[in-house]
Amino acid sequence: MMQKIVDFIKKLYGSSDFIALHEPRFAGREKEFLIECIDSTFVSSVGKYVDTFEREFAKKVGSKYAIATVNGTSALHISLILAGVKSGDEVITQPLTFIATCNAISYCGAKPLFVDVDLDTMGMSAESLRDFLEKNCEILDRKCVNKSTKKTITACVPMHTFGHPCKIEAIKEICDKWNITLVEDAAESLGSYYKKRHTGTFGKMGAFSFNGNKIITSGGGGVIVTDDESLAKKAKHLTTTAKIPHPYEYVHDEIGYNYRMPNINAALLVAQLEQLDAFLSNKKETAQIYKDFFANIESMEFLAEPQDSVSNYWLHSIMLKDKEQRDKFLEFTNKNGVMTRPIWRLMNELEMFKDCQSSSLDNAKYLSQRVVNIPSSVRL
Ligand SMILES: Cc1ncc(COP(=O)(O)O)c(C=O)c1O
Repeated sequence: MMQKIVDFIKKLYGSSDFIALHEPRFAGREKEFLIECIDSTFVSSVGKYVDTFEREFAKKVGSKYAIATVNGTSALHISLILAGVKSGDEVITQPLTFIATCNAISYCGAKPLFVDVDLDTMGMSAESLRDFLEKNCEILDRKCVNKSTKKTITACVPMHTFGHPCKIEAIKEICDKWNITLVEDAAESLGSYYKKRHTGTFGKMGAFSFNGNKIITSGGGGVIVTDDESLAKKAKHLTTTAKIPHPYEYVHDEIGYNYRMPNINAALLVAQLEQLDAFLSNKKETAQIYKDFFANIESMEFLAEPQDSVSNYWLHSIMLKDKEQRDKFLEFTNKNGVMTRPIWRLMNELEMFKDCQSSSLDNAKYLSQRVVNIPSSVRL
């Protein structure tokens, strides 16, 4: 059966050689824009492509503002600072995520708290969030305070796992009720919608990534989206070393960050963004092919987009029967030229976060032992 899967995936991707998990595709005007960018000499923090990208990206996701950054982690970091997260605070997130979510929280000097995920979305569970807050927290002075640690819970960061939207509307409602600022980690979900609204636009801010493995890439890159003009201005200021505009003097009014996306990366990204719709429909087709195929494979299930959602199917994933079957599958496929990867180790099991408070994490544990990503590149 394992051999049948390997053969199927190789045929699907039209190669008998190695099939990668997710390769970038540069089928548009990338070279043209890059050459233009080099010829202009504006390859760094100033240039027309950054502005064009920000304008086009905001339009694409339906947000008022977009601020380009060097990567998704820095986009999350700045979003959390602007959400008011301070040293000693706590931030709620999910244990089933890429390490960058918790790293960004830690850069602020804050501690992550973990609530469970839903089995169907693999993203934060609204029920688990509500339950955690009701059992452990109170509102004091208009702030959400953790009764056991006496710390303020400033922000909540749900993540749209592999591009499948989590139940973000319900999560937003709970955050609003508890005076917690919602910041979406939408690093993986460009092109994904919950009830027809783009992921990343429900929170006060949303952060996306354009790392080499994402649906579109600038090599490295990220973006913050928001509808709040003052936050957008602050985000731009903080990501550009907090420099006050001046014709020739260097004046900085606070400790800022060198997080601005270079123009050369933005040039690549403008070309990539033009192809997003084609990439999305290509991935949707692949998802349907996988879904039909795995429907006939015993004890394996293709994880399709959840209800009320449109997924970008960034990384296709399947659920296996148990950890033993998962490990055999990973071993066989990787040995036979098909790149597959397990879902992440839970954050609360990592040394740095093992002392962080969490709710019961049964679903996260279940998924972390069974979910595997299979080749997901846009097919040529
Ligand atoms: C869930 C999640 N958050 C944050 C990031 C960070 O993005 P970057 O690698 O661009 O810093 C990534 C991807 O790499 C991610 O998958």
